[in-house]
Amino acid sequence: MPNAAALAATPAVAPLIAPERAQDTRLVEGLIDRAFGPGRFAKTAERLRERQRPDLGLSFVAWGEGRAVGCVRQWPILIGDVPAVLLGPIAVQEDRRREGLGASLILRACDAARDAGYGAILLVGDEALFGPYGFSAAAASRVTLPGPVDQRRVLARALGSGAAAALSGPVRPIAA
Ligand SMILES: CC(C)(COP(=O)(O)OP(=O)(O)OC[C@H]1O[C@@H](n2cnc3c(N)ncnc32)[C@H](O)[C@@H]1OP(=O)(O)O)[C@@H](O)C(=O)NCCC(=O)NCCS
Repeated sequence: MPNAAALAATPAVAPLIAPERAQDTRLVEGLIDRAFGPGRFAKTAERLRERQRPDLGLSFVAWGEGRAVGCVRQWPILIGDVPAVLLGPIAVQEDRRREGLGASLILRACDAARDAGYGAILLVGDEALFGPYGFSAAAASRVTLPGPVDQRRVLARALGSGAAAALSGPVRPIAA
């Protein structure tokens, strides 16, 4: 018999994670705006996203009770000559955090990037959060972003053999 605390942490309806669709843009951007605020546009990672489109096949929305309650986006980039993706933003609605949705979204995004044949995933974030999914600052130490950034927050995960050694050089956006 589950205890009361476990029941309270269980969503009434298990969220469905599905690829982002063109018609989800407004809901997804609303979720991201609420999680990050307007300051997000000043971040260096945004230089890789502005005027680009996320790859919708590699971007996911968590749906709960008809609402978009979480999202993760991925954007095609080049790291030196290696085709890779930039992961982010990732956001979970405030009242649905700490239920495992963020973890599910990260794992789904990583699987999709690997299945699509990309050599690596790059992101700017907290190693404490993303380390358990294979991301590290060490793997990204020779990667340069197009602007000021705390290099300790530049994290990479190589996908496939040999990719880690090749992760070096400037990061550039490419069209989805
Ligand atoms: C970060 C965020 C997406 C996590 O979503 P979530 O659904 O609460 O995450 P989960 O419930 O799947 O937690 C996954 C793990 O990450 C940990 N975690 C969650 N948020 C964390 C944070 N900000 N820093 C470090 N660890 C964190 C959890 O403790 C959990 O670890 P555990 O499995 O050992 O308990 C969510 O808190 C959010 O939207 N925050 C605002 C936007 C943001 O900061 N995005 C990340 C930018 S890099």
